[in-house]
Amino acid sequence: MNTRHEAIDPVRIGFVGVGGMGTHHIKNLVRMAGARIVALCDIREAHAARAGEIVEQAGQPAPTLYTRGETDFERLCAEEELDLVYTATPWEWHTRVSVAAMENGKHAATEVPAAVTLEECWQLVETAEKTGRYCFMAENCCYDRTEMLILNMVRQGALGELLHAECGYLHDLRSLLFERDGEALWRLAHVEVRNGDLYPTHGLGPVAQWMDINRGNRFARLVSMGTQSLGLNLYAEQHFAAESAQARRSYAQSDIVTTLIQTELNQTIMIKHDTVSPRPYSRGILAQGTRGIVRKYPEELIHLEGRTKGDVWEPLETYQAEFEHPLWKQTLESLTDVGGHGNMDYLVDYRLLQCLRAGVEPDIDVYDAAAWSAVSALSAQSLAGGSRPVEFPDFTRGRWRARAPLGIIGAGASGTEEESTAVW
Ligand SMILES: NC(=O)c1ccc[n+]([C@@H]2O[C@H](COP(=O)([O-])OP(=O)(O)OC[C@H]3O[C@@H](n4cnc5c(N)ncnc54)[C@H](O)[C@@H]3O)[C@@H](O)[C@H]2O)c1
Repeated sequence: MNTRHEAIDPVRIGFVGVGGMGTHHIKNLVRMAGARIVALCDIREAHAARAGEIVEQAGQPAPTLYTRGETDFERLCAEEELDLVYTATPWEWHTRVSVAAMENGKHAATEVPAAVTLEECWQLVETAEKTGRYCFMAENCCYDRTEMLILNMVRQGALGELLHAECGYLHDLRSLLFERDGEALWRLAHVEVRNGDLYPTHGLGPVAQWMDINRGNRFARLVSMGTQSLGLNLYAEQHFAAESAQARRSYAQSDIVTTLIQTELNQTIMIKHDTVSPRPYSRGILAQGTRGIVRKYPEELIHLEGRTKGDVWEPLETYQAEFEHPLWKQTLESLTDVGGHGNMDYLVDYRLLQCLRAGVEPDIDVYDAAAWSAVSALSAQSLAGGSRPVEFPDFTRGRWRARAPLGIIGAGASGTEEESTAVW
């Protein structure tokens, strides 16, 4: 697969799906040097028009709007002169939009997860390989400060050999799922018919980067277990009525799905999906190696051999300055107050743009997108088979053994430090 392209500047972008998250990306992108929003597509004209206004208010020409229905993104991909098609549509559209983009010679960027089924994962890989286009999955949580600090610690050997990690998506979405707009319009439909870890990448993306997945390591197999499905019915009984449609409906998704992944290098990853229980937000982040352990929730804590006194936790803050990721050092110096989710939303777009503008492969590629997203389908297979172990497909077809380390600045970006420094 051709992984290098000439520098592109400015980057001409067509954006598909400008609801909540898409609008957020547009607001970030128009603030970045070298980003031009040329075309916008949404099935809701009002959403496309609203995003168009944001682009114009930022001083860019009015983008062309594509609002002729669910497959109008195909016309955008075919007719517009673009470098990148970026989608933040509902999950079931991500692969279709990305494939249409790549087939028409554009790079693709997609919100998470990149695919719902294993067939879609393979379709993304095969299309990216055939067309030589990038397929970037915009996993913003890979750019969060603590996850990047842990990446830096792992790269510097501070935790020793990495043995185990924990992560997940633990977010009480009960109220959101029953709203009458936004994500509720499509997300509840998945919860009704699918049982598995429906949203694995927020926690797993950073862990996969720490463990060099697809770059000297790979996910080998997983096994999933699920609880009863009670949370949404109980919530609906309390907030609507016992006889309401919401309360009487059945929901396939287990309230809590716990998955164990084993990597080729015999590390273990525990990943949880928990979205319909009363609980505080968490991504359950934990990394453990032969020389220490660090966790993010509910408090940021660490224990390092030879440094922490006694068998206790100490605040991670103690080591913040020593292990701050270079990207975050720069962010804190020059990119204050730049978007939601504590800057990681801005950074995911910023890094994508910077890589394209510098002719460097983006940090997250199609093999990452496929392997991280595949957990949804594989966990469903495991649950359906009575929690049987399921083997991961090797989307790299053996190339994981020789692929260069992760392309994130300060961590051996795209092979060499010099190359990565050039991005900045
Ligand atoms: N990374 C994050 O932190 C984060 C946060 C929120 C949402 N997301 C992801 O972003 C995506 C969108 O979520 P959202 O919250 O913005 O949902 P949303 O429902 O607010 O927005 C989806 C938009 O896509 C449009 N749309 C639907 N089908 C379309 C089609 N075929 N062609 C063009 N437009 C279409 C809808 O009209 C809507 O404007 C999801 O994949 C979600 O998981 C990620």
